[in-house]
Amino acid sequence: MVSVGSAPAKVILFGEHAVVYGKPAIAMAVDMRFEVTIKPSPRNITLVEGHPIKERYHAYVKYVHDHFYSGPPLDYSSKSGIPSASGLGSSAALTIATLGALKAHHGELEPSIEEIARMGHETEYEVQGIASPTDTTTSAHGGGIYVANEQSSDHLWSISRGGKTWHLHKIDIPEDMHIVVGYSGESSKTRLQVKKVSKATKRSKFGMEMIDEIGDVVEEARGALKKKDVVRLGELMNKNQKLLTILGASNDKLQALIDAVSDHSYGVKLTGAGGGGSVIAITDKPELVRNLFEKRGAKAYMAKPASVGVKVNKGV
Ligand code: PMV
Repeated sequence: MVSVGSAPAKVILFGEHAVVYGKPAIAMAVDMRFEVTIKPSPRNITLVEGHPIKERYHAYVKYVHDHFYSGPPLDYSSKSGIPSASGLGSSAALTIATLGALKAHHGELEPSIEEIARMGHETEYEVQGIASPTDTTTSAHGGGIYVANEQSSDHLWSISRGGKTWHLHKIDIPEDMHIVVGYSGESSKTRLQVKKVSKATKRSKFGMEMIDEIGDVVEEARGALKKKDVVRLGELMNKNQKLLTILGASNDKLQALIDAVSDHSYGVKLTGAGGGGSVIAITDKPELVRNLFEKRGAKAYMAKPASVGVKVNKGV
């Protein structure tokens, strides 16, 4: 009997990094999925992709296995449609898909999404040393997610850890808005990037002011999303990118991708931790933007929203 869990990638439209400091953020699940399959292990040890489970290679799966499972050894395998370390949340999707597969393994075919999101955040936080619940909640829930420092309408749940509380909400993202992802091919190391930004915030008062300003941009973007005002959204994306650049989260390669498409986009910015990884553009010329990204050596994807988050299944 096999148990399967799958979960989508995400893009952060606004507010990465600042969200780690309790500021708001807006993210959207996209229809690239991570799938994890569990079978009873054919040996007396737990396996991942046929190899004995090791923290060094399988940190997320091992944390989930050690903390949320007790029983005979398992055999985990996975299939990913999400480039790893691309800023698209592949580690969150892996974590959520693994938790979903374990739920199915325990016979829970309609598990609590909130519980999975909470366990997912604990896992990312403990493995990475620091993490907001943005990626894990977006991957578990699907659709658009607004992370806020206070509760408002469409509240889903609140998660506290490390002295911070994040209030997670649903938010509508206009379906006809074209978002194109340009993946630089360079890996984005979330932990290092978060450290780098943390240094920038400690160096001077100015750094923390940039974080506050990102928070203001996100709140304004929330209003623009409600009004479906793509022109304003684009301006706010560009502003968000400038602030992230000042904080040291961008790099030359990402900037080159941004420059290549900015004349044909409402707005374009890095998404996720930066320092590599991906940029996103909102545009009404998606094919042109995709070609321009590819001309610059990037892999380009149309970010179609994924309305469904974690899926669980049991087969034969
Ligand atoms: O690059 P990703 O997909 O790991 O996203 C990181 C987003 C940050 O805001 C930089 C960190 C976080 O935990 O929210």
